[in-house]
Amino acid sequence: MAVRGEFLYEGKAKKIYATEDPKVLWMYYKDDATAFDGAKKGIINNKGIMNNRVSNLLFRLLEENGVETHLIEPLDERNVLVKKLDMIPVEIVVRNKVAGSLAKRLGIEEGTDLKGTIIELYYKNDELGDPMINEYHAEVMGWATRNELKEMQEKALKINQVLVHFFDSIGIILVDYKLEFGRLDGRVILGDEISPDTCRLWDKESLEKLDKDRFRRNLGKEEEAYMEVVRRIEAKLG
Ligand code: TMP
Ligand code: ASP
Repeated sequence: MAVRGEFLYEGKAKKIYATEDPKVLWMYYKDDATAFDGAKKGIINNKGIMNNRVSNLLFRLLEENGVETHLIEPLDERNVLVKKLDMIPVEIVVRNKVAGSLAKRLGIEEGTDLKGTIIELYYKNDELGDPMINEYHAEVMGWATRNELKEMQEKALKINQVLVHFFDSIGIILVDYKLEFGRLDGRVILGDEISPDTCRLWDKESLEKLDKDRFRRNLGKEEEAYMEVVRRIEAKLG
């Protein structure tokens, strides 16, 4: 049984602790919700419990499909053991439909279909508001090597195949989402979380939003929407 050790770091949605094993971290999921790089703050009741559940089930599904993740073992409702990674400060956003900042930036209506998958890179830096970058920035600034960038994008496309198919099978459109990767023993591995906080998830029939856009856009019923995602994922993978 792992023992929670020294507190290491608090992010916007999680707290990270050491364990007695230097290769293993303890992640605690909070209910705090933020948007717009922390400018909007709130609480979504039970969000930590729901995101922990969703992320663990999706990471297990990805592992079963040959995608290595940091997941070691869920501990309880809010806590999970993960492999310690050397995190790469480049966020990968994968888009299957136009929404959010892409809709705004290019003046294209939200919900518009894309002919293929779009991958975008962002520099993970809250103070700067996670600015969009390209591979040249990432490589020249020393945030990731060319090989790591290639590996991250190849893995993102593989993850996308698995997740689009899975969400479709539970009546959900995976519109877009954010991934974070880290280094371990020379490999690039999926870290952080995949949850309604980090994805846009629309009901296939009603197009109702089942994700953090309910909070960002003051649509209400956040907890109910997250719960619906948990319910559908658990019915299939739980
Ligand atoms: P965007 O439309 O705001 O660029 O977001 C694209 C997707 O990435 C959306 O599903 C939300 C997710 N995302 C995060 O999880 N964290 C972030 O910091 C950003 C910018 C986006
Ligand atoms: N995760 C970022 C924040 O908390 C951006 C977002 O999700 O809107 O500000």
